[in-house]
Order: sequence, then structure tokens, then C-alpha cells
Amino acid sequence: MANKNLQSAKAARYDEFYTQLADIEKELRYYKDQLKGKVILCNCDDPYESNFFRYFVLNFNVLGLKQLITTSYTPSPVANTQLALIGDDKTLTELKSRPKITANKFIINEVRDMDGDGAFDLRDIAKQLKANKNNEWTPLKGTGDFRSPESVELLKRADIVVTNPPFSLFREYMAQLVKHDKQFLIIGNVMSATKKDIFQLMKENKIWLGYNNSGKTYQVPDSYLNKNVFVGNDGKKYMKMGNTGWFTNLTVTKRHEEIPLFRKYTPSEYPTYINYNAIEVNRYKEIPEDYYGEMGLSVTFLDKYNPEQFELVGSSLQLGKRMSEIVPKGTYSIGGPRFYLANPGGRTYKRLFDRIVIKRKIV
Ligand SMILES: C[S@@+](CC[C@H](N)C(=O)[O-])C[C@H]1O[C@@H](n2cnc3c(N)ncnc32)[C@H](O)[C@@H]1O
Repeated sequence: MANKNLQSAKAARYDEFYTQLADIEKELRYYKDQLKGKVILCNCDDPYESNFFRYFVLNFNVLGLKQLITTSYTPSPVANTQLALIGDDKTLTELKSRPKITANKFIINEVRDMDGDGAFDLRDIAKQLKANKNNEWTPLKGTGDFRSPESVELLKRADIVVTNPPFSLFREYMAQLVKHDKQFLIIGNVMSATKKDIFQLMKENKIWLGYNNSGKTYQVPDSYLNKNVFVGNDGKKYMKMGNTGWFTNLTVTKRHEEIPLFRKYTPSEYPTYINYNAIEVNRYKEIPEDYYGEMGLSVTFLDKYNPEQFELVGSSLQLGKRMSEIVPKGTYSIGGPRFYLANPGGRTYKRLFDRIVIKRKIV
């Protein structure tokens, strides 16, 4: 139990990673046609800190959105503390102390230049929200937890959910989206694809990866302590996180591009795992063109996965047979269910990092 608590606390440390506007712009540019006329929900997004809110509100008219719904979450360490949204506006009273923390709901139906400076920006939104003209800024009854009944009601109203949800609740978050049959574009750790439920959704072609699925740099709260945190030119704290990608069920054209295959299979270059009947392939570029059995690759393959060319079979977490049933004790390092390879000259079998198993489709 203690171990479990420690694990979830460890996972929850990554829940306060804020996405940079440039990363949102880089991905969202591919979906413009699919967002037109839609109700967008960002349900893990305090407008004071969320660049998802900023992106959608500033591009509301260009994208032709019908409505933007954003909700914040009270336990967040930045809830109601970062008043940049209204802090710049001298006509609005600046709060002297940390305001009463409430989770809020923001519903944007219209955006336009309100202060007459000829440009539309976040100050116009602050004014519209204050005046409550066509837009709504109201407290939620609860904490803003995405699983709460009032948040689920908002989810039902949405066409497309776009956000970076808490990393520690990713699987639960995804399950809720699928249960409510929503379209979505959300950030998550690509390694989650090795977990049974997420892998199954990918295998059934219900979710896939978007366009930008490599490491990204996130803003972290000032209180965040980690040796990898660094201070950016803007004085804010940042940390890089590898393998974070976009999980979606929106149309992604890139996933129908065929991977060109050039290599030939040889048993020495592509060894078979000790505890599963599949060959190890180092990189997607090395997939042999003449091999139709099962192949294991690192999860980064999913960035190139074309469902017309390959079939997803499973992941090493589910497929790897127990080494204790195959080889004598002491010849392998114990760990989770992973794939192992022979290790000539080494004392023990070589234990590999999580793999996903694929197979060529015969067309
Ligand atoms: C990874 S951060 C991303 C924040 C923002 N979406 C962004 O991309 O910058 C996840 C956010 O979800 C909030 N959060 C954590 N648990 C939540 C829950 N159960 N329901 C809703 N939001 C939650 C966190 O406080 C945090 O602000």
C-alpha cells in the first residue's frame, strides 16, 4: 500500500507541467478544418496559466469555433494565483492577497476588440468576462475534477476535448473520453501505449498519435524541485520531458504514409527474444521488408505506425513469458514482464526496455 501511495505521489509530481504555446500551435495547425464550428472543451485548464485557453481564445474567430469551455481545478498550486489575465489591465482592481480559491468555468461564445485599441487580445477577454457579455465566468460547485458530475455535464456538451491532462490520471482520463464517445486531442506520455487498456484502443484503431510526439519542454511551478529544472530567459522555470505525444481520434493524414522498407531479414541481425517468439528490430527504419512474423520495436514506432501496413499485436508487458518458466534462476535480472535477448559473453540474459509487437499486413 505504502509503495502504491509512493508511486502515485511520484506520478502526481508530473501533473503540474504546463504546455507551451509554441507546442500547441505546432500541433493544432494540422487540425484547423476539423475544429470549425465545434464546441471545444479544455477541462484541466486554469485560464490564468493554460496556453490551451490562450490559444483557443486568441484564435477563436480564425478557427471559426462555436464555443470554448474551460474549467480550472482548485488543488492546482497555481489556482487563482497567476493574475496575468487581468493583472495587466489597470482598469481592473488588482487583488492584494491570494483570492479565495474556487474552481471556475469559462464559457466563451464571442471574442472581439473590446477596449478599442484595434487589436483583440486577452485584455479584451478579461473585459468581456467581467462584463459577462455573451461569455460566462462562474464558479463551479466542486473542485473542477474532470470526473465530477458538473464536469461530465460540460464534457457531454463538447464536440472536441483538447488539453494536457494530469499525467498520473491519463488512463482514467482517456477512458472517460472514450466512454462518452468524444473527439479529442490530448497530450500524454507515449509510454502509456504499452499499458493494456491504451494499447487495446490503439489496436482497435480507436486512438492514435498525432504529429509531434517527441520530448517537449514544459513550464513547471516555481515551487517545483528537480535537478533537471532550469530557468528560461523569461525567468520562469522549465523542465524537459521525453516521449510526450498527442493522443487523438481526429484525422491525422501522416499515419497513412507507408514506411519504406529496404532491409533483408537475417537471424543474426534480428535475434529472436528468449521469452517470446518475435524478432528484435532496433529502429523502424530497419524493419525487414521480407519478414512477416512478429517483430518487437520501441514504443516510438507508434509515431510512424500506418494501420494499412502493420497490425499491432501487443506489448511486452502483456506478451513476455515469465523467464522463471524458461531458464534457470540467476541467468536473468528480475524485473517486470519484459523481453529478454541472449547476451553472448554476458553473465545474464539482456533485459530490454518495453517493446510493442507488430506484424506486417499482407495486402
Ligand atoms: C499536466 S498539467 C497541464 C495544465 C494545462 N492543461 C496545460 O497544458 O498547461 C495538468 C493540469 O490538470 C490539473 N488536474 C490535476 N488533477 C485534476 C483532476 N482530477 N481534474 C481536473 N484537473 C486536474 C492540474 O492541477 C494541472 O493544472
